[in-house]
Amino acid sequence: MSALEDPLDVGGVELRNRLYRAPLLECAGNGPDAVDTLIRELEPAAESGVGLICQGATVVRGEGGCAAPGMTRVSDPEFVARLERLTDAVHDHGSRIFVQLEHGGLRSMETWHAGYRADHPDLKQLVVSRPPRALRALDRVGFLDYDPYVLDTEEVYDLAADFGRSAEYAVDAGYDGIHIAGANAGIVQQFLSPFYNRRSDEFGGSLAARTRFIELVFEEIRDRAGRDVPVVTKVPAETAAPPFVRRRVSLADGVRICERLAGAGFDALVPVQVSVFWDASIVRGEFPARAWRDERFRGGYAEAFGSTARTGLVALLNWLQSKMYDFEPAWNRRYTRQVAERVSVPVLAEGGIRTRNQIDRLLAGGDCDAVGMGRPFYAEPRLPARILDERAEPRETAVVCENCNNCTVPQAADARGVCRTPSVLEKRGALREAGAYDRVEASGRGESDDRGES
Ligand SMILES: Cc1cc2nc3c(=O)[nH]c(=O)nc-3n(C[C@H](O)[C@H](O)[C@H](O)COP(=O)(O)O)c2cc1C
Ligand code: SF4
Repeated sequence: MSALEDPLDVGGVELRNRLYRAPLLECAGNGPDAVDTLIRELEPAAESGVGLICQGATVVRGEGGCAAPGMTRVSDPEFVARLERLTDAVHDHGSRIFVQLEHGGLRSMETWHAGYRADHPDLKQLVVSRPPRALRALDRVGFLDYDPYVLDTEEVYDLAADFGRSAEYAVDAGYDGIHIAGANAGIVQQFLSPFYNRRSDEFGGSLAARTRFIELVFEEIRDRAGRDVPVVTKVPAETAAPPFVRRRVSLADGVRICERLAGAGFDALVPVQVSVFWDASIVRGEFPARAWRDERFRGGYAEAFGSTARTGLVALLNWLQSKMYDFEPAWNRRYTRQVAERVSVPVLAEGGIRTRNQIDRLLAGGDCDAVGMGRPFYAEPRLPARILDERAEPRETAVVCENCNNCTVPQAADARGVCRTPSVLEKRGALREAGAYDRVEASGRGESDDRGES
């Protein structure tokens, strides 16, 4: 049994409490403003008291592998060294920061983003195996356009080494730990999933063999970044995959993978229920009608999806997904609980957690050891001040985020990761006026935070 205010040890690094900001794309890129953008996006969470910030996915290679526009690459040691300003800013407020490392594989922009492909005709589409039949069918009807390159065994080792190198640069820049992007249909999930992984070498076949890639990534990180750097990962259970997908990571498989990873030395695990596809199962909530209609993004959508007609088709799929994946409070609870009962490392829970009461129940009930939120941090960058406010009695604090998802799809059009729902931004403004985000060591710097777009 634990409480939100209790500290938590993750691989020897102490978090001052059990609230974390889940990895969310900051869309900071690598340009001259990248570090300032990251500080602007992440420092308010630290300043308002969060225990841990998980920076959104960053890419371990200098070319390819970006799942979405505007992702930051961490393959260049000179660039990563500049991130010390970010880690210092977070540490100054007593928080910790982990960087998430990613390669998109078959989910990368070189496979789905028409404009990016046209600009990078020579980029290989790196894949674990030949794409599954369902995706080949979409390729044949012209909805997707694959020209895949299957990694050979040596190249799999090279990719794992790139994760290790980026981890080394990140630790040198002051990051407290490494988070592997193990889910959300990126290449690590593609190795874990029997839907994607049909390999016949040491990285394919049994569950143990499919887990080998993430274990190798872990070994590379430890070899290059140090034996004592905490390493955590999301672990997918593909329970949200449509019924026609028969080969998938079941909930029981997900639990077994977690047990293996805890045995291999991972310092914390984040079990998440996802699909095999990159879809709305990870951001359950409403269909973002406002964002799809928004004139400002029309051109960006058409560039990303290839035409206005295809944009309409993607929007339709997004609508169907919003019907399939109902928002359910704390939707990963059943999975995190099963994992927490079987492993001795901390288990982190995220996905649809919205009130202080839910948080207290999850922690007190042993469903997890720490609690994270994603979209609510876009809506309220200083959310921890309210969630951790001990004056709020009884603890009925709820986030203002309404799960409308207007912040999600514009990112395909290279838009910033911010809340885009005016009524929600008004609520945040009213709370700010009422002093709800003033807290503890608040120096006033976060008070001017006005992020969000109407
Ligand atoms: C716009 C957006 C970007 C995200 N980016 C990442 C990411 O980079 N890495 C990751 O593991 N999860 C990512 N997620 C998933 C979140 O970490 C989180 O699991 C998800 O939003 C569910 O939590 P929530 O209901 O509190 O938002 C993203 C979610 C959203 C909405
Ligand atoms: S647009 Fe704002 S309210 Fe809607 S899901 Fe995103 S952060 Fe939450």
